[in-house]
Amino acid sequence: MESPYSIAVFEAREDEMSSFAHAERTYPVRLTYRREALSLDTLNLTAGCQAVTTLGESHLDAPLLSALAEKGIRYLSTRTVGYNHIDVKAAARLGIHIAHSDYDPGSVADFTLMLMLMALRHYKQALFRGNANDYSLAGLQGKELRTQTVGVVGTGNIGRAVIRRLSGWGCRILACGHPKKEVEGLATYVSQKELFQNSDIITFHVPLADNTYHLVNTETLSWMKKGVILINTARGELMDTEVLIEGIESCKIGALGIDVLEHETGIYHQDLRSNIIRNRSMAYLRQFPNVTMTQHIAFYTEEAVAGMVDGGVRSLVEMIEGRPCALEILAG
Ligand code: COI
Repeated sequence: MESPYSIAVFEAREDEMSSFAHAERTYPVRLTYRREALSLDTLNLTAGCQAVTTLGESHLDAPLLSALAEKGIRYLSTRTVGYNHIDVKAAARLGIHIAHSDYDPGSVADFTLMLMLMALRHYKQALFRGNANDYSLAGLQGKELRTQTVGVVGTGNIGRAVIRRLSGWGCRILACGHPKKEVEGLATYVSQKELFQNSDIITFHVPLADNTYHLVNTETLSWMKKGVILINTARGELMDTEVLIEGIESCKIGALGIDVLEHETGIYHQDLRSNIIRNRSMAYLRQFPNVTMTQHIAFYTEEAVAGMVDGGVRSLVEMIEGRPCALEILAG
């Protein structure tokens, strides 16, 4: 057998190990594991490797990519679907091939539906009250999903998986984004402004990019219905957090279900019980009765983690061997 491709795995987590062991049995690879994120400080841990895989905490900006290129690393994969932590243009300039992952969108889509239902049924309050032996009904009357108009912003893999699920609940579904055949008959495509104006619930499934940064801002919030429910399982930066706070305080926003938050890096996925956390907006938002915040776990299922690892290793092998790689990100 040819000598295996040597790959440095950064941000390796315990729960990924059985999937990595499976990948080592499936592909011609030798993996070395690092808990750390890849940075200029940990760069030397790539010694002897020809490719690297990371998660989203490794900020692959131009200086880091150029240092990787100097070390002869030409192949990099992120085990995440989103790749806003990578300077794709700099990578292309440096001749580094980049791929992202394609785990099943079901994990995030299921979680999105859960956040919608939790918001509609005031579940955060019901849970808190039950824990304090308060079994009163006042303030807990909800609404049924079938009576709602749900706007789905973005009809990529995750947006479409959300639409498929919603179609079983009998609600009216609006969508915006590049029209996809599969969406026909399930949702009606409208402009983004019309979607904002006419939806009772709006859920966001677009990548973070220059044109999606602060998609929810003072102006776009003003187009929305009073009492709108906003769901974000994509990226925190899609929403201006200060505008969210003002929206909750003025009751323009009826409820928020957010799995992601601006400046979550270094906080989410860490145990900080004994630490001082410097994110005032996070603490302030969390205390509202109609705001449900989770710590970027929508993706986190056994099935998704297996897919992340498989995609992260398979794409590297395909790119190293010069084979077509559906997961390769092409700058442009
Ligand atoms: C992604 O796959 O893009 C995610 O958001 C999950 C990741 C942060 C582990």
